Amino acid sequence: MEVVEVVEFDEHPARGRFNSAFFWVMGGYIDWQMRKNKEAAFADLPPTVVELGSGVGANMRYLPVGARLIAIEPNTYMHTRLRRSARSRGVDLEIRGVVGERIDLPDASADAVISSLVLCSVRDPDAVLAEVRRVLRPGGRFSFTEHVAAKRGTPTRWTQRILRRPWAWIFEGCSCERDLASVIRAAGFTRVDLDHYRIHSPLLPVNTHIAGTAIA
Ligand SMILES: C[S@@+](CC[C@H](N)C(=O)[O-])C[C@H]1O[C@@H](n2cnc3c(N)ncnc32)[C@H](O)[C@@H]1O
Repeated sequence: MEVVEVVEFDEHPARGRFNSAFFWVMGGYIDWQMRKNKEAAFADLPPTVVELGSGVGANMRYLPVGARLIAIEPNTYMHTRLRRSARSRGVDLEIRGVVGERIDLPDASADAVISSLVLCSVRDPDAVLAEVRRVLRPGGRFSFTEHVAAKRGTPTRWTQRILRRPWAWIFEGCSCERDLASVIRAAGFTRVDLDHYRIHSPLLPVNTHIAGTAIA
């Protein structure tokens, strides 16, 4: 296991620890809500996968047996639990403590990049997607399941608007107001297939989702 330097991520000791513990404790419940769509998006992944914002390892269960995971995870408060998940799932983990806006991997070096609940939190989703395209080989896949802004005029959308500031503060920059389907479609992939779906959790602002795959 290797850890390289952290760049451009504002770590906060209390919120970093809280978020690490939150996703560790709530991981099973969140996975139960998203499982059907994750199973579809993350089906048939290759033996080596690059993941944006791996957190504490929510997606390791979707990797093939004996997989190698290159985790782009700038938040060091996630790393201990991420390593623990890798050990318990037999995943060969390499943590790269860099941001998705500046991935330290060569051009066209990855067969697959995955993400879940990450593009809501990155500072610059366009820059992250440009990096995903750069590191993917031609024909490589970006598979994602992300929460997005609800339709205008709906109670979910109002809630997303009203709670935006405390939500971003607690969840380290997370925005529930991003139209990530449009952002992914505009990112220059050769093909994008995605579906909108809804989960039914008490955390209303994160109930509207997309899942799919984009081909480089
Ligand atoms: C809401 S958590 C989701 C974690 C995990 N993917 C999951 O589904 O449980 C968002 C993750 O994105 C990471 N993150 C935030 N900004 C990032 C950036 N610019 N580049 C890469 N990861 C980032 C956070 O550290 C955190 O682990």
